[in-house]
Parts: sequence; C-alpha cells; structure tokens
Amino acid sequence: MPFIACQAQKTFQMKNKNTFEQKIKVLLKQMTIEEKVGQMNQYNGFWDVTGPAPEGGSAEKKYEHLRKGWVGSMLTVRGVEQVRAVQKIAVEETRLGIPLIIGFDVIHGYKTLSPIPLAEAASWDLNAIKKSAETAAAEASASGINWTFGPMVDISRDARWGRSMEGAGEDPFLGSKIAVARVQGFQGDDLSSPTTIAACAKHFAAYGFSESGKEYNTVDIGTSTLHNIVLPPFKAAVDAGVRTLMNSFNELNGVPATGNVYLQRDILKGKWGFNGFVISDWASLNEMITWGHAKNKREAARLAALAGSDMDMEGYVYIEELAQLVKDGVIQEAILDDAVSRILRVKFELGLFDDPYKYCDEKREKETVGSKKAHEAVLDMAKKSIVLLKNQNKILPLKKEGQKIALIGALASDKNSPLGSWRIAAENNTAVSVLEGMQQYKGNELLFEKGSEFFIGDSNFLQEVKINTSNKSGVKEAVATAKKADVVVMVLGENGFQSGEGRSRTELDLPAIQQELLEEVYKVNPNIVLVLNSGRPLSINWADKHIPAIVEAWHLGTETGNAVAQVLYGDYNPSGKLPMTFPRNVGQVPIYYNYKNTGRPTNKDNNVFWSHYSDVEKTPLYPFGHGLSYTTFEYSDVILNGTSFKIGDDVDVSVTLKNTGKVTGKEVVQLYIRDLYASVTRPVKELKGFELVKLKAGESKTIHFTLNKETLGFYDNDGTYVVEPGDFKVFIGGSSITTLETDFKLVD
Ligand code: NOJ
Repeated sequence: MPFIACQAQKTFQMKNKNTFEQKIKVLLKQMTIEEKVGQMNQYNGFWDVTGPAPEGGSAEKKYEHLRKGWVGSMLTVRGVEQVRAVQKIAVEETRLGIPLIIGFDVIHGYKTLSPIPLAEAASWDLNAIKKSAETAAAEASASGINWTFGPMVDISRDARWGRSMEGAGEDPFLGSKIAVARVQGFQGDDLSSPTTIAACAKHFAAYGFSESGKEYNTVDIGTSTLHNIVLPPFKAAVDAGVRTLMNSFNELNGVPATGNVYLQRDILKGKWGFNGFVISDWASLNEMITWGHAKNKREAARLAALAGSDMDMEGYVYIEELAQLVKDGVIQEAILDDAVSRILRVKFELGLFDDPYKYCDEKREKETVGSKKAHEAVLDMAKKSIVLLKNQNKILPLKKEGQKIALIGALASDKNSPLGSWRIAAENNTAVSVLEGMQQYKGNELLFEKGSEFFIGDSNFLQEVKINTSNKSGVKEAVATAKKADVVVMVLGENGFQSGEGRSRTELDLPAIQQELLEEVYKVNPNIVLVLNSGRPLSINWADKHIPAIVEAWHLGTETGNAVAQVLYGDYNPSGKLPMTFPRNVGQVPIYYNYKNTGRPTNKDNNVFWSHYSDVEKTPLYPFGHGLSYTTFEYSDVILNGTSFKIGDDVDVSVTLKNTGKVTGKEVVQLYIRDLYASVTRPVKELKGFELVKLKAGESKTIHFTLNKETLGFYDNDGTYVVEPGDFKVFIGGSSITTLETDFKLVD
C-alpha cells in the first residue's frame, strides 16, 4: 500500500510534473489555519527530555495533536520502531498525511560517539571533521532520524561556559570552515539520500557570549563583535546550504533571540537570503515571558512569529495561540504561509513526501548502528583530536617494552565519562577506557590505581555531577605504586558531564582532589605524563611548571582508550592544535588570541600604566593554535608576490616548512594577518588561512596561501563588509604566537 493517505497521495501525485515550490503552494491552499500552525509545532518524544518539562504537555495530548495533524515535527523520538510509529500516525491518520521531520541532538555522533565537537576542532582537519559528521548522519539516519540539531557554531571565548565543548572554539575563521565541513558532512550532496540528514546551525545568535560564562545569561555585545566574530560561522553555514537554524535562549542587547527581528528577518532571511526554516530552542518562546519581554503566551507567539521563528520546540505556544492571533487579524496568514513553506520545503528536499519511511529500515539500522566502520571512523577522529601540550625531555612516546608504568586516576578506568555530554542514544559505559587501551600494549608492566574516587554515584545528562571533595582513600596506594614505576601516566580532569549544557563553572583548575593527588604522586616520581580530560580549556599552571608531558585528550568518545594509548605509545603522532586559548587562571577569562591592542599594550616606562594584571602574566598558558608533535618543524622563507596590491588583487603568500625531526609528522601551518590601521580597530592577529601538512623526516614543502577581498576586509559598525586600503602584516607559523612575519600595502 502507498505510503501516504489517499488525500495526501492525490496532492503528491503531481510530483514528477511540478517543482517543490509549486507543490508547496498547492498544499498550502488545502491547509486550514490549524494545520498550518501544526506544521510549526514540534513536540519532544515520550521519554528522554533535554530541557525542563513545560506546562501543559502530556503524552495523551501529544498523540491527540498528532492525529489532528497539529504536529510538524518530533524530537528525541529515535529508533526505527519508534519513529515509524509516530510517522504512521502523521501519514495515515491525519487529513493531509504530511510526514513529520524527526529531529535529534546528533552532536558528536549518534550511538557510536566521536570526540566532543571542541576536540574535533582541535584536529584542524576539515576532511576528518566532515567524515565524522557523515558517519554520525549514517548512523542516525539508519535509526529513523532525518534532522540533527547540529552543528553548534557558537564562538566561545569563555572557558567558564560549559557549552564551549559543543562548538569549534574561539575563532570565526576556523569556526566557519568547520561549520561548512559539518554541514556538508551531515547533508552530503543529496539531502534526499536516505543516509544524509538536514543540519541545523545553532544557536542564532551570540549564545557563546553569555555574560560571565554563566549558562543562559544575558548577552550584551557591540556590533563589531556581532558581525565580525559571532555571525561569520552562521553565514558560512547558510552559504554552504544548511537547511535549518536554531535560535538561542539568550537575549541579545535586550531582545531575546527568539523574538529578534534584526537577527532572523533582517539578517538571516533578508540579507543572507536563507530559505530554510528556523526552529526555536527548547521552550524559548515561553522564556521570552520570563525574560520580561512578552507579557504572556499570546504575546510570545506574536513576537516570535513576526521575528521569523518558524517552529516552536516543545513550548506549546504556537499551538495554543497562533491560530487565534491570525483569526483576530493580529498576525497575517502570510506569516504562517512563509513559515510553513519553509518547513515543507525541507521536508520535500529530504524526500519525505516520496517515502516518509525512508529512514525506517530495520535491516539498515542493524547493519549501520554500532558497525565496525563507525568504530573505525570515530577512532580515527579521536586520534586526530588529541593535542600534545608539552613534552619535555621527550618523555613521550612511551617505550613499548621493559617499562613499569603506573596508570593513576579514576578517569583512567572510566568507561562512561569519555563519552562526553551529548550522547542520549549511546549506552552508558561503552567507551574504551584508557586502562583498556593501554592494556593492549603488553610489552610493559602496567600497574593501575584510581588514587581516589573522583565523583559520587552515577553522573548523567540531567543532574549536576557530585564531586568527591573529601574522601582521599586510595591516594596512599597510588603514591606507593607511582614510587615503583619508571613512568607514571595520570588521567585527570573533568567528568564528561562537567561540561555541556547547564554546566558553567567558575573554577578551571583540576576539579576536586585531583590536584592534590597529582602533587603527592609528583613528590615520589616526577616522571609523569598527564592525560587531561576536559570539555574546555583548564588552567593547569602548576602542572605546566612541574609535569614533563601533558596531553589534552578532551572527551574523545567511544574509542577514547585506543586513541590515547596509540598516541602515548607513538603509534600515532599527534598533530592537534588548540582551538581555544588556555588561561593561566580563571581571572584572565575571557582570553583569546585575536584581542585588540589597546592604547597601552606594553610596559613602556617601567610603571603600572599599561594594559595588564598586577598578579599574573598577560600571556595565556597555551595560546590558540598551540600543539606539539613527536617530530619538530622549521618554518622559513615567508615570501609575498609583491609589496603593494590593489584592493581586489590576490596576495600570494608562501612559506617553506621542513620536518627537522626523526619521524613523519603532520603540522597545521597557520597564517594570520594584522590590519594595522582601520576605521574600526582590528585585532592584533586574525587567522586567515591554514593547511594540515604531512611531511616525512627531513622533508620540506612550500605551502601557498592566497589573501584576497574575502579575507582582508571586515564588517563595519553598520554590518557592512568593507575592505580598506592600508598596511598589513602577515604572520606564519605553528601557533598564534608565531613571530615569523612580513608585510604589504593595500591601495585603492
Ligand atoms: C536545548 C539546547 O540548547 C539545544 O542545543 C538542543 O538542540 C535542544 N535543547 C534540544 O535538545
């Protein structure tokens, strides 16, 4: 029997003759106001929640609305069986049989988890990141899902903000490239393929600038930061064809993003010509009331609809208020038609009208979810995400034989924490632990001690992690074991649920008693490799001063232990670079490489009148772009194809890179510019190019970059992109503090 109900079938039989736009028009004509509002209504499924439960929702009501055709989408319904069940109601029991679009937070993998997005960003490997999104799309789509709420493209300069883990870090250039890679990975070349899913760039906009890094806080930023830092990754995602955007919980300069006309109508749908749809964040329409912007639900519905929020996520606001607002003449039906057209367009593009069950294939689900291929892909991504922060006396890689190795830390044997924060579809305790990974190297003697419990009870997505701050039993045993060892590997840092949504922190040191454990072990054996777990930059000053080797291993997902062990033993040479600056202490935050010079940048006359702190160095602990390898690289010969260029000309920049070490390695060659004088001041450095280069020992290569109109301009305070004549510096090297430089002029 055909997939869709009779009435609906008649509508869609035109499919070969008409374009999507014509079909949308035909369908709109048949829809009642309530059915239109229904398309703009999204309900959460019946079990997992990813936000506070709103008033008025019950499974009974949801089913009733589904049958009436008052639901356009569901989220967090997953698995072929469950998705088929709700889709069947939409397609077979409603008057028009319009299929649902099924959304899910596929943030760093579906069931087989890849590293958290911030970790993936540390790879600077766009092909790998794209492939990771492809893998996630293949798994999710095999499980009934056709829309992910990713990528998150929020720029974050504030490590206190827990959701830093979910983005690509602090830089708009890197963030834009990664946004595009992820959109392409999720959506592929053909959205109607059953293995691709619609992507969603979120959170529009400026959520990463929540004041003091406190979750859901107000955002008050100027136009320069908005246009030059916050918006570029969204624009890049839109240009790459992202089909949906999600707005954000925050207000921006006093107006909640959900009701923000400037962001959604003027910029997104106006200036950028976006023709997909915008979903609200979880009940963010209702939160406009709590913010003190809308008086009640009716007002919230009016403001959000007028501002261009096309779909209400689990808020019950549109479904309760919008139809009446149209009937009362407060909102024109054309507003609904526009929103519904956008939603239907994406459904048509996904091919849902041709086959609403195309993502519901039990056989494919069985073969794809958790497949060997998925595990290989996330392992590859995990290795590429690791950053070697410090490696004194070449303590790493570890020798493979004849060593006694003490592995210490509760996180070393943890199979849950490495899965990170967004992993609703994954089973608990399914990560390969570092202990398990290291046990596979059998040439050494491996002694394991937890040291002390790190947290109490189970940790999960909904509750705060309960940290052990007092029970130090186990420290003595750890110290005794360390004493016997040639090398100590300590796995310390954050639990996977200490970063993510709702998990802002005011301290960035090693949590709980881990610092004490580190110092106690150090007293008896300083030959330590510290493997850091974190969803954000941590301030590890003491460790940096005393510990010879430090590896940032984030939360690397399902294959964590294998990835970490392969890097520690040198079977994989790390090449990751930090996508976010590591501060010396939390007081330096927000700290980022592309800061403004100020009028007093240096200590000129040896007095206090310069931009600095009295109690800590001005520089970060580890700068943006930093990361070491088991080999060494040398940069030389930065050459430009001229000294003066007309606006519009291409500026060719080349540099020679040599692998001066003994093993093959990869290096992320980074190009930064500084526009010395501009009508709106420019940062001291701006990333404008990078390339991941693999070289054998002793090998050299010349790398070319092109600077042009797209990279040499900026947005002025009206949000207009301008390229101004003037003097530019160019810096090239292996991190943002590179000093290898040259310069050129740009003339009219
Ligand atoms: C709230 C989060 O802010 C958003 O990113 C997520 O997609 C939704 N909840 C749905 O889970």
